[in-house]
Amino acid sequence: MVYDAYERPLLDLRMSVTDRCNFRCTYCMPDIEGKRYCFMDREQLMTFEEMERFARLFVKLGVRKIRLTGGEPLLRKNIDVLVAMLTNIDGVHDVSLTTNGFFLKKYAKKLKDAGMKRVNVSLDALDDTIFTKMNGVGVRSEHILEGIDAALAEGLHVKVNMVVKKGLNDHEILPMAYFFKKKGVTLRFIEFMDVGSLNGWKLDDVVTSKQIYDIISEHMPLEPVASSHVGEVAKRYRYVGTNVEVGFISSVSAAFCSDCTRSRLSADGKLYTCLFATNGTDLLSMMRAGASDEQLISSIERVWRKRVDRYSEERGKQTTWNGKRIEMSYIGG
Ligand code: GTP
Ligand code: 5AD
Ligand code: SF4
Ligand code: SF4
Repeated sequence: MVYDAYERPLLDLRMSVTDRCNFRCTYCMPDIEGKRYCFMDREQLMTFEEMERFARLFVKLGVRKIRLTGGEPLLRKNIDVLVAMLTNIDGVHDVSLTTNGFFLKKYAKKLKDAGMKRVNVSLDALDDTIFTKMNGVGVRSEHILEGIDAALAEGLHVKVNMVVKKGLNDHEILPMAYFFKKKGVTLRFIEFMDVGSLNGWKLDDVVTSKQIYDIISEHMPLEPVASSHVGEVAKRYRYVGTNVEVGFISSVSAAFCSDCTRSRLSADGKLYTCLFATNGTDLLSMMRAGASDEQLISSIERVWRKRVDRYSEERGKQTTWNGKRIEMSYIGG
């Protein structure tokens, strides 16, 4: 195992497989008039073989969990082939994926057959006037629900992620909670975060986990559930008298940097040690220039050992931040 400057082990790898997305969520990649997103060229993207090689190296350093992200990971052609390559690596305990769910119906069986056990699906509202506005491309919630059902039918474990933004979808908190409680699916509420520079983040737009907890528990009492592992981002609760859970991801009101064990590889193979980092280490160029496994491992180790990131804790309650910030669709969420 390799530890950073604050004794945090490197245990997770979040790999972005593409920076493209078919959605334009207001809080991530908003559709701004006159703005054209500039995406990576195909040759810049890591190939499946390169990703597998990186995964093996990270596993040698102690990584046990791999999450595929994007952009939208299911836009990457034949992603199930990559999933099979990753689930076959000795020492990998968990390969999962965070998706907007649009292509889940098409991919659920392929992912399951490739050895995936679970997926996290983003869905911010059931009400289509709100959901279509939030995803920016007019996709209806029914379509995502069909994807979720297809995943459940394949036996995939599903968690739903809902980013809550004040005045936009906060009145969907209760309907979403009722709906997914009935369905027996874990719903996680995510505080709107100040990632990137395009989503116009303001502290005032954040509905805190405490506020959401209060709204729900007034109607459905909750009891805490112990974390399943160190560094879990969500605080977990269960509806009393059931086995159905809800989670709260409080990056703004209660930062969880102190046990952050996550590394991130952008789709062009740069290593970032924080969601808010502005500089990455270009591992892919090293690999393509012929670096050996030992050389790559020692670069990763060097970066991790000197890691001091704790952005969310440092930002604390500041309402604005003037530093540079990388877009979430680039670094992979
Ligand atoms: P599980 O393994 O299922 O617990 O996945 P996860 O919750 O770590 O991953 P997911 O991609 O579903 O992320 C849920 C939310 O947590 C997203 O909004 C992420 O951006 C956020 N998140 C994940 N990791 C970090 C992190 O290291 N820092 C911050 N600030 N937010 C994170
Ligand atoms: N704040 C909080 N969560 C966000 N996500 C994307 N942008 C933000 C933001 N600004 C979420 C997505 C997805 C996960 C990868 O990150 O909804 O669930
Ligand atoms: Fe796409 Fe996810 Fe960003 Fe929405 S949050 S624009 S689905 S990458
Ligand atoms: Fe980890 Fe950075 Fe997120 Fe803190 S802000 S939890 S250090 S990724």
